[in-house]
Amino acid sequence: MNSHKPLITIAIDGYSSSGKSSMARQLAKNIGYRYIDSGAMYRAVALYAMRHGMILPDMSVDTNAIIEALPNIHIDFAVNGSSQTTLLNGEDVESDIRTMAVSECVSPVAAIPAVRHALVAMQQRMGVEKGIVMDGRDIGTTVFPDAEMKVFVTASPQTRAQRRVAELIEKGVAASFEEVLSNVINRDHIDETRSESPLRRADDAHLLDNSTMSIESQNQWLLDVYNNTIGHL
Ligand code: CDP
Repeated sequence: MNSHKPLITIAIDGYSSSGKSSMARQLAKNIGYRYIDSGAMYRAVALYAMRHGMILPDMSVDTNAIIEALPNIHIDFAVNGSSQTTLLNGEDVESDIRTMAVSECVSPVAAIPAVRHALVAMQQRMGVEKGIVMDGRDIGTTVFPDAEMKVFVTASPQTRAQRRVAELIEKGVAASFEEVLSNVINRDHIDETRSESPLRRADDAHLLDNSTMSIESQNQWLLDVYNNTIGHL
C-alpha cells in the first residue's frame, strides 16, 4: 500500500454531520492508514458524565465534577474488521455514544478546557508515528498544526441535518428533522464560540463544501488531495 510513500498526518475538520467521518474512514482504508474519530472521544466523556449525574436536568454541565472524574475516564478504540469500536473503561459504547441524548450534551462537555487538554494530549500520542487520519473540530489547528494534509468540510445545515436523520433512521433511532436541525445548529454555535480551540478552518486547509456532492465524488476528491500532497513532498 504505502510501503514506498512517506507517512503523513491527515487532519480532517468540519461542521457536525458534514460527512467528514465517513470520508476520513474511507480514505484511511484506501491508503492503509489508521483512522481516529476524535468526536467519539468527546462523546465518550459526555456519556460518562451523563451516566454519573454530571449533566443537570437543564442540560448544563457540572464542570468541576467532570474535571475531577477525568483520571477515571479511559478511552480506547478496538478495531473490528473494517469497523472501529469506542471503548469507555473497557466497555463497548459505540452505539450509546451516538444517541441524541449524547449529542445534546457533548458540545458543552467538549468546551471545558481541561477536557480538551486531556483528549488533545491523548490524540497527539496516537499520532506520533504518523500514518494517521484523524477527524474532528480542531485537528488541523490544535492537535496536529503541522499536519502535511488538512481538509475542512462543510455543507448547509439543512443538508447536514437530513444526512444525520437518515443515518439515525438506519440505526433504528427515532429523530425528527427539526430536532436534529436545531441540535446541529446549536452544536455549530457552541463549537465556533468556545474559548478553547474553537472550530475554525486552518489557513492551510483545503476547503470542501460537499452539499451537492455524491459520496463517491467526495471520496475521490479526498484521494486526489492526498495524492497531490504526497506528490509534492
Ligand atoms: O455528530 P458529529 O459526527 O458531527 O460530531 P462528532 O465528530 O461526533 O463530535 C461531537 C462533538 O464533539 C462536536 O459537536 C464537538 O462539540 C465535539 N468535538 C470537539 O470539540 N473537538 C473534536 N476534535 C471533535 C469533536
